[in-house]
Amino acid sequence: MTLTAKHVSDNKFQNQGVNMISWDEFYDDPTSLDDDKAAAKPAQPARATSQPASAAASQAAATAAAQASHHSVASSVAPRVSEQTASSYNEALAAARTMQAMDEALAPEPTQTELPANASSDAKAEANNQRVLAQAHAELEKLDISAGQQELEEWTERVSVDDKRMINCRADLNQLVPFKYDWAWQKYLDGCANHWMPQEINMNADIALWKSANGLTPDERLIVKRNLGFFSTADSLVANNLVLAIYRLITNPECRQYILRQAFEEAIHTHAYQYCIESLGMDEGEIFNMYHEIPSVAKKASWGLKYTQELSDPNFTTGTPETDKALLKNLIAFYCCLEGIFFYCGFTQILSMGRRNKMTGTSEQFQYILRDESMHLNFGIDMINQIKIENPQLWDDAMKRDATRMILQATQLEIEYARDTMPRGVLGMNAVMMEEYLQFIANRRLVQIGLPEQFKGVKNPFPWMSEIMDLRKEKNFFETRVIEYQTGGALSWD
Ligand SMILES: [Fe+2]
Ligand SMILES: [Fe+2]
Repeated sequence: MTLTAKHVSDNKFQNQGVNMISWDEFYDDPTSLDDDKAAAKPAQPARATSQPASAAASQAAATAAAQASHHSVASSVAPRVSEQTASSYNEALAAARTMQAMDEALAPEPTQTELPANASSDAKAEANNQRVLAQAHAELEKLDISAGQQELEEWTERVSVDDKRMINCRADLNQLVPFKYDWAWQKYLDGCANHWMPQEINMNADIALWKSANGLTPDERLIVKRNLGFFSTADSLVANNLVLAIYRLITNPECRQYILRQAFEEAIHTHAYQYCIESLGMDEGEIFNMYHEIPSVAKKASWGLKYTQELSDPNFTTGTPETDKALLKNLIAFYCCLEGIFFYCGFTQILSMGRRNKMTGTSEQFQYILRDESMHLNFGIDMINQIKIENPQLWDDAMKRDATRMILQATQLEIEYARDTMPRGVLGMNAVMMEEYLQFIANRRLVQIGLPEQFKGVKNPFPWMSEIMDLRKEKNFFETRVIEYQTGGALSWD
């Protein structure tokens, strides 16, 4: 690729208010010096020689690179720019700096050497490769590394555990160790150890049941469709929040390591929902667009999105009480509410179906996902509590009220979702039982971040859900997997 003045203009100077001329304008400019044009333009085709075409091409390219002097486009443009702008000292200085920057940015333009007309395609390709290589080397010689050096010079000391902080940390974030938050690293290791893929799960029984006229009742079909509709986009919202909003604001490398793992797991979850939707032959548009079309789904999505908008602005930074609290609210919204409450009606419904030997493949997908989500939730709660410990001024009465209100709102939205998806009793459960379950869950979320319970005396009507979520009690779930993942040690290099 040839670096042109247009590229430089686009990439480097467009935000500096500098009037650039394009390469084409330069050639057409009668005031430009002929010598400069000649030096910058491709050279005349090399005369045919008796050498083999590829050798001639290589030599020509090498010669071109050697002869490519540092052609100063800037110097030829200088008279025009200086006439236009050097009305004052500052303008003249700015113009001079622009000229210098252009000189530094523009690599020497190796002379284009044409091969004889009868040159083979291999020879032409080789000549082109040589030309590109020569230009890459020339550009490298002009590489300005001052910006990178400046960033590295901010962090010259070895990292100490005491320097590390969840937010607003000044230590080098590129050094993973020494660990300060062992829980974050352990969760990363646990997440990797529980890796799975949707294609491992046999969907044949689900396909037969879904396509059979009397396989499922209309209420059971509604539950399957609504939940695939909600989850097919919900995990994308979570993943987007992770990578576009919070990743850069959490200033700790072991937590970032887990966040990257979590982001990949969210991709696997979206994949799993897509895999179910495709396997069952559902209308993909209807399912994936449900978060726009069905109010009980749309409300949950838009409630979560409200907390990601401010933080996903690239100009948003933490460091003030208001912005630090905005980050804390985002973490509560996504970890405690979205992943910690909004997922629980759907998980319970689908897993209840699996317990009754219906949609067992879909249910197994949800079982794997629930296990991952349980770890996401615990990681988020650990992060929230660690931020509270390190920044106690953020956890004031107003923040506690906001956090409580958020959890109560999320609970109410999930109760509405339960009523919408279960207009009647189905699968041994109904909306009233689900309401109590969600209040039980809400109490747990409140207590997990240090707030008092809001629903007195509620019990868990679905204790089997806790069993499914608990990794340690799961019997041979991962041990019996038949698929072995290819690892670095198993790769064949033949
Ligand atoms: Fe997920
Ligand atoms: Fe998640």
